[in-house]
Amino acid sequence: MQTTGRGNFGSRLGVILASAGSAVGLGNIWRFPTEVGRNGGAAFILVYLCCVFLLALPVMISEFIVGRSSRSNTVGAYRTLAPGKPWVVAGFMGVLGGILVLSFYSVVAGWTLHYTIQSFGLKLMGNQDFGEVFNTFVTNPWKPLVYQFVFLLLTHFVVARGVESGIERFSKVMMPVLLVIILLLSCFSLTLPGARDGLAFLLKPDFSKVTTKVVLSAMGQAFFSLSVGIGCLATYASYFKRETRLVNSALSVCAIDSMVAILSGFIIFPAAFSVAGVQVDSGPGLVYITLPHVFNMVFENIPFIGYLFSGLFYILLLLAALTSTISMHEIATAFFRENYKLSRRVSATVVTLICLLLGTACCLSFGPWSEVKIWGMGFFDLFDFLTAKFMMPLGGILITMFVEWYLDRKLVVDELTNGGTLKVRGLSFLLFLVRWVAPIGVGIVFLNELAG
Ligand code: PFF
Repeated sequence: MQTTGRGNFGSRLGVILASAGSAVGLGNIWRFPTEVGRNGGAAFILVYLCCVFLLALPVMISEFIVGRSSRSNTVGAYRTLAPGKPWVVAGFMGVLGGILVLSFYSVVAGWTLHYTIQSFGLKLMGNQDFGEVFNTFVTNPWKPLVYQFVFLLLTHFVVARGVESGIERFSKVMMPVLLVIILLLSCFSLTLPGARDGLAFLLKPDFSKVTTKVVLSAMGQAFFSLSVGIGCLATYASYFKRETRLVNSALSVCAIDSMVAILSGFIIFPAAFSVAGVQVDSGPGLVYITLPHVFNMVFENIPFIGYLFSGLFYILLLLAALTSTISMHEIATAFFRENYKLSRRVSATVVTLICLLLGTACCLSFGPWSEVKIWGMGFFDLFDFLTAKFMMPLGGILITMFVEWYLDRKLVVDELTNGGTLKVRGLSFLLFLVRWVAPIGVGIVFLNELAG
């Protein structure tokens, strides 16, 4: 046991569930099916899985090494491992990235909270124009703000309670609930009439659809979905114990996250295909416009089941979003706490206040501030672009280079084998991925994104 008083994850399961909780989020249930729909189904999924295991996994393992060996927040980690060197800039970028992601992500999380309440209040039933319903809500000057604030406060509350009794305890209860709901819903969805076509779309690869653009999207999706590149998992790893098996934990997180993403496809596509004329590639509106419509059409004759299905779906989305926002919040909370010697409560409050402020700008960019543009983008799109397209890939390149090119090889191998006590199969292949494949692969995608 370590005794620095920073807190620790108490168990192996806690480590995996908290990290998987960070990874599994709106990215899996909302963004992944949208990307699959846009990019041609099964072929995209195969490309995506390659990106997860060849590019994002090495970044995750690098974050685990940096976090656990330094036992510090992202800035402190670079300062400890490379004192006086400019690497620390990557740490600051992580703290800023975490705040920016949380600011825009909490807007969508707030919508989810609203839809959950609406769904249980029977407000999503009947023949309505759900596109109109959605637009009226997101452009309202104060309603989405209230939901966003409530969501940020829920996140604050868990983070302020600390690592073991807040983050770990919450993830240990919520992640199994989430997995059960997702399994239930996919079984449900697969029994719908017409589910077969949805399944075929999801499972039959059409490689003619795989273009460079599809590969780029798959990789961006993999990074976002696995929460890698901005020091989120490095921060969590700083609370891992010495006995935690880094490679196994990273593999488990990648496997759980990919499974949830694919299962979300099993929920959404059979349901969407069972209603003729519903577009599966309708973008971000998929979950808030298409699905309520689908729920109503499919369950026209058995409204109670439709009610249950939609309620469970939005709760699933809500829980997934919450375990992710907690992890984003923790990046900056750990930094303020350790850098400025604040208590956990005070540093969490500082982070929440900053996110309330920046989050307001993101939320209003759908309504009253829709005309305010920076580089042609509203705040929401700007923050999304800066983090998902810029900071996460750049952070990924930097951390893999740091681990393989700067850190002492012995320290790296010691971390991966827990001081030589573990036998890690495929260790040299893994190190090859970290040294060459991840930085070069991500670098190519990153430059392409910037050029495009
Ligand atoms: N991985 C989360 C999702 O798929 O929704 C999003 C995320 C969490 C991004 C934490 C970044 C982060 F630091």
